[in-house]
Amino acid sequence: MRPTQVQIVEMGPRDGLQNEPGVTLADRIALVDALSLTGLRRIEAGSFVSPKWVPQMAQSDQLFGQIQRQSRVRYGALTPNLKGFEAAVAAGVDEVAVFGSASESFSQRNINCSVAESLARFEPVLQAAKTLNLPVRGYVSCTLGCPYEGAISPEKVAETAEALYRMGCYEISLGDTIGTGTPDRAVAMVRAVAQRVPMAQLALHFHDTYGQALANITACLELGVATLDASVAGLGGCPYAPGASGNLATEDLIYLLDGLGIEHGVNLDALIGAGDAICRRLGRANGSKVALAKLGR
Ligand code: HMG
Ligand code: MG
Repeated sequence: MRPTQVQIVEMGPRDGLQNEPGVTLADRIALVDALSLTGLRRIEAGSFVSPKWVPQMAQSDQLFGQIQRQSRVRYGALTPNLKGFEAAVAAGVDEVAVFGSASESFSQRNINCSVAESLARFEPVLQAAKTLNLPVRGYVSCTLGCPYEGAISPEKVAETAEALYRMGCYEISLGDTIGTGTPDRAVAMVRAVAQRVPMAQLALHFHDTYGQALANITACLELGVATLDASVAGLGGCPYAPGASGNLATEDLIYLLDGLGIEHGVNLDALIGAGDAICRRLGRANGSKVALAKLGR
């Protein structure tokens, strides 16, 4: 059943900026601070990954030290291993995320190990998080297709999702990393995962590369999914998914939710301001259709 209220997890500062050439620490902090005043309650602010692999996310410790934290907002970060987890905890994150994949080849390219090895690396992260009472989100990438392998079966997605859930991830975010999904396939994938992980623990993380993310989310909302990842101004793309563009623009998602009468708690004008400011700083086009329409461009 369609939810009456959803949680939005803002991806702009992490997924949005991780592939952005020339982004500075000041740009990243300005974006997090602007987003913190929009009513959003969850912001993925950075990554504690190897700076050789993703230089844009270096200095995430400094970012956490310098942002103006708002008490109603939970600030999260990616942590692929114990080293990243320890750095994230020292920086004062509110939650962390491990990121696995339903595709073997994507796992190799993204985190340099097999899916099974990645799960073994996440174990100690989950254990350490448990002792600190820190929530851990789990991502499954390539849920609707892989840039290297093509089609991925819903069963394989469900397997990885269940492994992360059993390990202790409180929420599983299902990534359409390359945005190739369409509504029927998205619904079939979410249904398969929901056989093994409760629907209330699932989030959708759909990239909009083929312009299908809104349609896919609209279809999956009917199943009762109530946590949605999106990226302000449609910023982003994964460095290890060639040609991938950003998550669905948060502004466009808000407009859809308003139309469906689903509560989200975000001020659209403030969000458009935050998205426009980072696009100006970076000299890039705004990827939100709603923002462009409202800004009269
Ligand atoms: P590796 O090279 O196999 O790791 O990388 P290693 O343990 O052999 O270490 C190599 C070097 O990295 C060493 O440094 C380590 O200290 C360092 P050196 O001795 O060479 O100077 N290192 C680290 N440094 C900082 N933080 C760490 C860390 N760990 C090791 N946590 C590793 C393995 C996972 C580290 C690497 O592959 C990596 O950092 N990958 C980053 C991948 C990434 O961030 N991808 C983008 C995010 S995922 C995504 O976008 C998808 C998602 O949005 C969902 C979707 O859309 O589907 C989540
Ligand atoms: Mg992503």
